[in-house]
Amino acid sequence: MRAITVRDRDAGAGGLALTDVPHPHAAENDVIVRVHAAGFTPGELDWPSTWTDRAGRDRTPSIPGHELSGVVAELGYGTTGLTVGQRVFGLTDWARDGSLAEYAAVEARNLAPLAADLDHTVAAALPISGLTAWQGLFDHAGLATGQTVVIHGAAGGVGSIAVQLACEAGAYVIGTGRAADRETVLGLGARAFLDLDGEDLHQAGEVDVVFDVIGGDVLDRSAELVRPGGTLVSVAVPPTVRPEDGRAVFFVVEPDRARLADLAHRVRAGRLKPIIGSVRPLAETFAAFARHDRTPGRTIIQVG
Ligand SMILES: NC(=O)c1ccc[n+]([C@@H]2O[C@H](COP(=O)([O-])OP(=O)(O)OC[C@H]3O[C@@H](n4cnc5c(N)ncnc54)[C@H](OP(=O)(O)O)[C@@H]3O)[C@@H](O)[C@H]2O)c1
Repeated sequence: MRAITVRDRDAGAGGLALTDVPHPHAAENDVIVRVHAAGFTPGELDWPSTWTDRAGRDRTPSIPGHELSGVVAELGYGTTGLTVGQRVFGLTDWARDGSLAEYAAVEARNLAPLAADLDHTVAAALPISGLTAWQGLFDHAGLATGQTVVIHGAAGGVGSIAVQLACEAGAYVIGTGRAADRETVLGLGARAFLDLDGEDLHQAGEVDVVFDVIGGDVLDRSAELVRPGGTLVSVAVPPTVRPEDGRAVFFVVEPDRARLADLAHRVRAGRLKPIIGSVRPLAETFAAFARHDRTPGRTIIQVG
């Protein structure tokens, strides 16, 4: 099968190659998915799990990309709950070959059924961004109706979904980002927007939750916005500064079949809309990864 592979840790996106590789093996409780659309995270070439397995052993050449939507092609020994021919979407394991390939082996529990009327391209944009946004806001920060939340990077993949979920939950949402993102973020339902380059973050006032996807100085400066008992949640890097009388949380997104189904339901009902930038064929993954493409929104690779 054809797949995007990486071998050289120092080569960055320049090391991506379109190659012929063996068809993946379905281990116990696995599903082999015929990939129709795949998503990736630009920073994943820096993750240790791109290069080594869970025991720390070299696993190159490895296939990047950890989001997919496609059709079940094969079931591993003992796999239940999904059937061959079924449309599915979800996350692939961090330390196994990923989704930028014609076929991918995925644990069945990482996948959810996909309704016939939801496009693969849209579904592939949901798993990481949608689950990260949900888990950050509600599982880790406990955001509740009537509370105020600052969402950094609110026009990005995770942030744009977080804004929509928080608004629907009845929170007062202040989005942040680049000056050019203001209309996009307000259009998603945020009540206010702060340009991180030109406006003072303290204009947000005291808030119950800060959800950060940027890290660095933005994350550090955010701790002092959190009111006593509130939470600073980060998905970019672990916070080194914590709110004086609150919690600081860093987490890595976990698979959740029921939540994936809920996110897809929201999309079908018109209550949630992932922002999709460009849709490119597998052979054009290089340019997309290298961020030559500055179209706002998630880049999705159309494989099938
Ligand atoms: N821990 C986890 O489980 C987990 C899960 C998902 C994602 N992540 C991480 O979260 C981060 C964001 O992911 P994403 O998919 O949402 O990325 P994304 O789509 O690139 O969104 C990031 C947004 O933040 C904006 N931004 C970045 N730096 C900024 C700055 N200094 N000032 C103003 N705006 C800034 C970006 O604008 P520009 O595009 O203009 O720079 C973009 O709109 C990544 O580092 C990713 O690896 C972690």
